[in-house]
Amino acid sequence: MNAERRPMLAANWKMHKSVLESLAFVRAWSRRVADGATLPDRTQVELVLCPTLPALWPVAGLLDAMGVAVGAQNVDLGTEGAVTGGVSGHLLAEALATHVIVGHSERRRLFGETDAMVAAKAAAALAAGLTPIVCVGESSAERHAGETQGVVTRQLTAVLNAVPEGDGRLVVAYEPLWAIGTGQGAVPADANQVAGWCRALAAAAWGPAANRVRVLYGGSVTRDNILGFWHADEIDGALVGGASLEMESWLAMVRTVAPPPSA
Ligand code: PGA
Repeated sequence: MNAERRPMLAANWKMHKSVLESLAFVRAWSRRVADGATLPDRTQVELVLCPTLPALWPVAGLLDAMGVAVGAQNVDLGTEGAVTGGVSGHLLAEALATHVIVGHSERRRLFGETDAMVAAKAAAALAAGLTPIVCVGESSAERHAGETQGVVTRQLTAVLNAVPEGDGRLVVAYEPLWAIGTGQGAVPADANQVAGWCRALAAAAWGPAANRVRVLYGGSVTRDNILGFWHADEIDGALVGGASLEMESWLAMVRTVAPPPSA
């Protein structure tokens, strides 16, 4: 955590929760806040909820009233046109998304997204006025082969070369594949080292402007381990999957990173 950068706590709901379930969650959260549950000042901590695509628009108004940003989980290239199934950044923004997860390892694996595609999507998101949360990270095999730094460098370099130089809206999420959904999160010190590599790479490309780039950690983050990442020097927040789906678990994480003033 660094005072210059606003920390981010982002929930990645993946392909979970129907539109009605998403709305019910957000309504229940809003009621809990009205009853006194912690909601950090948005200038102190940036909260982002990334539901499924059909749920974006329905939940956006309520979340905005709570000071919580809405993010999509993917963006396609271009603005509009003959792209069956495509959803551009402009369409996401119109559905009130302000953020978008780009290049998640599940999309790289299941949809064949390459470094070049991920980089182009990050640039497309920025062009549409969205904040891209670009995921990078090594597989278990790559980790054991000592290739973590090389893989992350390759993935992030493609992005840095594609987006406008010095665009401080860029958010990087270091998500080692072996930690996603496994219950085996990275050791905070290891994740911190990789986050440091990411920022050094941005600094080599952009100079001091890289100080504004936030680097999150993701992979089996829970209410019990989140603080270890939150307090690491080079890490500016967390991207949370499974542990964001259940209300008590999510509220506990929000409370943990932004304790109420009296606590
Ligand atoms: P997890 O997922 O928290 O369930 O490990 C994180 C992610 O894939 O973004």
